[in-house]
Amino acid sequence: MKVLGIETSCDETAICLIQAEGDLEHGNIRFKTLGNALYSQIETHRPYGGVFPNLAKREHAKNLVPMLVSTLEQAKMLVPADRPAVTKEMLDELKIVLEREEGLFAQLVMFFAQYQKPAIDVIAVTIGPGLEPALWVGVNFAKALAIAWDVRIVPVNHMEGHIVVSAVEGNALPHTVLPALALLISGGHTELVRMPEWFHYQKIGQTRDDAVGEAFDKVARLLGLPYPGGPEISRLAKEARAKNIAAPFTLPRSMLQSGDLDFSFSGLKTAVRREVENRSTLTDDEKCGIAREFEGAVADIFSAKVATAIDAVNAYTLIIGGGVAANTYIKQHLGTMLEKDFPTVAVRVCPPERATDNALMIALAGYLRALRGDFAKPEELYADGNLSLA
Ligand code: KG4
Ligand code: ZN
Repeated sequence: MKVLGIETSCDETAICLIQAEGDLEHGNIRFKTLGNALYSQIETHRPYGGVFPNLAKREHAKNLVPMLVSTLEQAKMLVPADRPAVTKEMLDELKIVLEREEGLFAQLVMFFAQYQKPAIDVIAVTIGPGLEPALWVGVNFAKALAIAWDVRIVPVNHMEGHIVVSAVEGNALPHTVLPALALLISGGHTELVRMPEWFHYQKIGQTRDDAVGEAFDKVARLLGLPYPGGPEISRLAKEARAKNIAAPFTLPRSMLQSGDLDFSFSGLKTAVRREVENRSTLTDDEKCGIAREFEGAVADIFSAKVATAIDAVNAYTLIIGGGVAANTYIKQHLGTMLEKDFPTVAVRVCPPERATDNALMIALAGYLRALRGDFAKPEELYADGNLSLA
């Protein structure tokens, strides 16, 4: 099955075409990436220190068609057309679908005039959670393609995408012993999810305030580091450990005594702010020390909560995904704890290049959903910024 994945939930515009086969029952799913395009809008949003929704929307609308062309080209599926792939009546319909997506309709008209319908079986698109104006661009783009090409469409939950791509090993999704516990850590989410079966989710813990990636970004800002802050903090913390620079203060390991599996990161951020404001300037060594302490506090919190959660839900597999799963120190810290306390738990950690938002995760989750027949009619498709897994 050839699945085209489309992701526009935040500040990454991404399209990916995979060829996948196998099923969950046999644990024999394999896939090949035929084409992949990812445009990070980080530079666009950097001056704002975070993602600016309407700017993200405009950038998605500008980039989707060129990225589709690039993806199909890589897959050797971009075939010039002798005559337009869509009729005049269909264009009228598409115009309505895309009336809110500035410039996208005109680009698509050109595209359909130039290229034949590719042999794609399914279109998978993120419908949420995320920034709603940004999500709508991808949703309407997917609708337009589905109508024009007469291809079926699968709506995908972005968080399910993070889980599926993190459970993958290389180019296969091997049999996964359930129940699994998923630790989803990103710029918008911090969740512990129990998965008793595929497609069944129970949220057993979540942040009560900031997401962990958001906390990384805010602390980075306090230290005068650019957006996104995660990789910057991580770089400074690594330097501190290498040079043996100690933290100028100790941060609380928040929520360890809460008696549940929830998180809170805004207190950590406030503690850093207070300390920074107490100093007129920060030396480079102090910045490194603070980054080290912050990263250390986060790692301690995750290790403790994951240990409690594995016990609580009797998990056989731990799946770790989301942008913050790109953090080497947090992964090592968790790895040490797991080796010592849970040597029999199978661990699937998302590799860094698949941990931050991408469209492979949407195509893969879309494939699993398509196997179940979870299709939606284009007219039933809508974006939901607050979509939840459970
Ligand atoms: O999953 P993602 O790409 O987007 C969301 O769905 O939110 O995650 C982005 C988040 C940002 O907050 C970024 O600072 C954080 O992931 N991040 C990291 C690292 N790389 C990205 N946080 C800590 N360490 C990293 N190496
Ligand atoms: Zn994400």
